[in-house]
Amino acid sequence: MTLDHPNFGKLPEDRVIIFDTTLRDGEQSPGFSMNLDEKLRMAEALAELGVDVIEAGFPIASDGDFESVRLIAQRVRGPVIAGLARAARVDILRAAEAVAPAERKRIHTFIGTSPLHMEFQLRMQPDQVLEAIAETVGLARQHTDDVEWSGMDATRSDPDFLCRCVEIAIRAGATTINLPDTVGYAVPADMHRMFSMLRARVPGAERVIFSTHNHNDLGLAVANTLAAVAAGVRQIECTINGIGERAGNASLEEVAMAIHTRHDALACRTGIATQHILKTSRLLTGITGFDVQPNKAIVGRNAFAHESGIHQDGVLKNAATYEIMTPESVGWSRSSLVMGKHSGRAAFRDKLRALGYGEVGDNQLNDAFRRFKDLADRKKVVYDDDILALVDDAVMRDNDRIRFTALDVHAGSRGPARAELELEIDGRAVAATATGDGPVDATFNALRLLFPHEATLRLFSVGAVTEGTDAQARVTVRLEEDGKLVDGQGADTDTIVASARAYVHALNKLLVKRTRSVPQDITTAMSA
Ligand code: KIV
Ligand code: ZN
Repeated sequence: MTLDHPNFGKLPEDRVIIFDTTLRDGEQSPGFSMNLDEKLRMAEALAELGVDVIEAGFPIASDGDFESVRLIAQRVRGPVIAGLARAARVDILRAAEAVAPAERKRIHTFIGTSPLHMEFQLRMQPDQVLEAIAETVGLARQHTDDVEWSGMDATRSDPDFLCRCVEIAIRAGATTINLPDTVGYAVPADMHRMFSMLRARVPGAERVIFSTHNHNDLGLAVANTLAAVAAGVRQIECTINGIGERAGNASLEEVAMAIHTRHDALACRTGIATQHILKTSRLLTGITGFDVQPNKAIVGRNAFAHESGIHQDGVLKNAATYEIMTPESVGWSRSSLVMGKHSGRAAFRDKLRALGYGEVGDNQLNDAFRRFKDLADRKKVVYDDDILALVDDAVMRDNDRIRFTALDVHAGSRGPARAELELEIDGRAVAATATGDGPVDATFNALRLLFPHEATLRLFSVGAVTEGTDAQARVTVRLEEDGKLVDGQGADTDTIVASARAYVHALNKLLVKRTRSVPQDITTAMSA
């Protein structure tokens, strides 16, 4: 029997489905939480990027997660919208309700299949796991024709048992079988062996799409993903910038560009509109406040920079000497505009486009331009890195409940420091004065007066965005509350202002985090 997928129909053999889990696996990792509006913006960008499936969230986790999956299902057209569910009736019903408004929908249900997960996490016997798979996949199929089943920790599962699990999932109606390397333990040869074995041994394997989901604990997520594709897998689970649990997931931009650039070796294709890659990556870094490292493939600031004389000479003569893909093909453009205090709005907008931000709305542009002018007055040269830091700060956070307005600090070697801080909280202007052991301490004390909270400061780090004493400081603040960690970032030429902005950013993220917690006591009970 040939493959005829409920949402994709008869797919050409070389077509690989891109399943993006930035909003689920990515969003659940420390520091990456997003609010409703930010998730919607990301989902719209993912649709424009051409991903086939958006895993929009884990609806049972909280009312906020449910709402965001439902809103994305209502508003975002194009990709299939998936909701994650454990092997439990409540999870599956909640996921079904959340994805119901989607044009094309999917329920993704999972259960642990390795001895470790079955014994210690689920406290279930293998036979009970097999029963749960049949029941939960069957239940999901009553709500949608497109059901994905995942065997968590598949790469550390017994191969014979894994075959039985997959067979039962297919018989119960799963249309995609995902076998995650949950702990990032596999090497590419393991991956190839596992999928080849399953495709050869499991009855009904030809009727489903096999999927790969790789964590990056050993830095092998992309390599493992490509090894799975070489073994016939036709769905890749990945995230923008590779964000995700612990060391993250396979990065969408790396996987997509490997497939795009090495068609000769991989003989398959995706539906990704590669020219939107940088813009989508930038949207994510702007929303979360986490930059990618400069040498990150495809989207890092140095990914297409040529420093050595020999390389520069070669590129000037023929770019192909040292470039295997063009920067333009992933959204970079070459702008020679030097920005300074005489630059106007049009030049600034052009610069944002060149840096990969795409079209920025008028309000956001006004905000960012005002801060750029302010910066240009204080700083001799405004570098691209300055603009990146400023835009991430000014443009991406227009839905925050708490907003920084102004700060005056009195500090020095005589007596306690004093901070006068003004904020806007839920649209209301508030101000407080506090003293402290140094200006940062005084500022954070004023923040606690204006917005009382119990979170503990776990990290305070300061770095310079560029060189020189007039460089902007980029500050990171990490807060912990009830075991939940959030990171906030802020940038300014004044280190104390950057610190206040970073703390405010972290608090806003904490407010998002407070709304969610996955009930821990539901493991797999169908009666739950
Ligand atoms: O890593 C993992 O096993 C997962 C599953 C829920 C698919 O994220
Ligand atoms: Zn995962």
